[in-house]
Amino acid sequence: MNEQTQIPNDLDSLWMPFTASRWFKSNPRMIGSAEGIHYQTVDGHQVIDGTGGLWCCNAGHNHPRIVAAIQAQAATLDFAHCFNQGHAIAFQAASRLTELAPGFDHVFLTNSGSEAVDTALKIALAYHAANGEGQRRLLVGRQKAYHGINFGGLSVGGIGLNRGQFGTLYPSTAHMRHTLLPENACSRGQPETGADLAEDLAGIIETHGGHTIAAVIVEPVAGAGGVFPPPVGYLERLRELCDQHGILLILDEVITGFGRMGTAFASQHFGVTPDLFTVAKGLTNATVPMGGVFTTAKVREAFLNGPEKMPDLFHGYTYSGHPLACAAAIATLDVYRDEGVFENAAKLAPVWEDMLHALADAPRVIDIRNAGILGAIQLEQDGAVGDAGRAMYEKLWDMGLSIRPIGDSLAMSPPLTLSADDIGRIGDLLSRGLNA
Ligand SMILES: Cc1ncc(COP(=O)(O)O)c(C=O)c1O
Repeated sequence: MNEQTQIPNDLDSLWMPFTASRWFKSNPRMIGSAEGIHYQTVDGHQVIDGTGGLWCCNAGHNHPRIVAAIQAQAATLDFAHCFNQGHAIAFQAASRLTELAPGFDHVFLTNSGSEAVDTALKIALAYHAANGEGQRRLLVGRQKAYHGINFGGLSVGGIGLNRGQFGTLYPSTAHMRHTLLPENACSRGQPETGADLAEDLAGIIETHGGHTIAAVIVEPVAGAGGVFPPPVGYLERLRELCDQHGILLILDEVITGFGRMGTAFASQHFGVTPDLFTVAKGLTNATVPMGGVFTTAKVREAFLNGPEKMPDLFHGYTYSGHPLACAAAIATLDVYRDEGVFENAAKLAPVWEDMLHALADAPRVIDIRNAGILGAIQLEQDGAVGDAGRAMYEKLWDMGLSIRPIGDSLAMSPPLTLSADDIGRIGDLLSRGLNA
């Protein structure tokens, strides 16, 4: 790397994640720095980060308090592991986290959302085994679900392109249908119809026997599958069926956690309480990788009846509770609290909704979806699936707005520190881009 120009020496050594590398290299978008809701490219182009990194920079970029906390921690305790030994900051981070989630007294720390999901699925399987119900092995996911890219998360995920290269995965899964219904196009927030799709779980229970099912996992608002909020009553019905059959409900809050819906967690916004939930991303404002699984006391306590000198869960990562991540997490939670970041999201959610839905008549728009400070504008297909989305992504980038194309949907999840004026600027760019 040439530090003067920030131009890399070659583009070949790095195998980029989820990237069409030949397309990327034909016109590399190279980011040099970031501040607040903006990126600056190496050639001086300023872009609004309309996706908050990848749904993760909830407090905006390069927040000075978070930067300072990471720097100070690196100079004090760079690393210590947590296998049969501890360091204070890991415990402090965990108790700050559980304070945000009444009813969830415990959190297992990981390094990413994918690890959080796999951890939650393993906890669910091991929980039933600890309770003498080792026959509960089936994990239920949903079409279009994204739960990361590790084997467990892929197995319950429902995006064919992500699974297709990898074969059988975890063998004991079933999937419900997704809830993205054409008749709900352009609903504001939660669509009114579609709760009956939760009856797919009743069907799976009928087919497999409720006593064989360990857990059901869903994103409260589907994200990477296209951004769609749950139909009114849908999550409630899943909760009811899980309760009736002793099945654990896992909400994957990797995107929706830490204020995206205007509350700390989406479960609080929707009023549906899971048994476990996963987080990552906004947990450290994306500054240092970290994820986690929150559990109720009921789940945790099932693990405390074994031999005292044996691990109660044979699972953990070298970097579970990494000191730098813990310092970043605590500073991030301080910023969220002191700067009213969740409250800002709650206040601006209606402004965000109005801005998006004002674009309903723009050319080629066939659906608009929103929840909290999340949104997607779906375009009519033009050529192959994804061509229209990619073309609009390139156009908007050049105009100064970064969005994430998911097929032909333009997904957005800007930092929650944005203002009403920023929403106006995003709306203006979208409108000009779509009408161009
Ligand atoms: C709902 C959900 N779960 C899990 C993940 C995986 O997180 P990570 O990329 O940190 O592994 C993501 C990533 O976007 C996600 O949206």
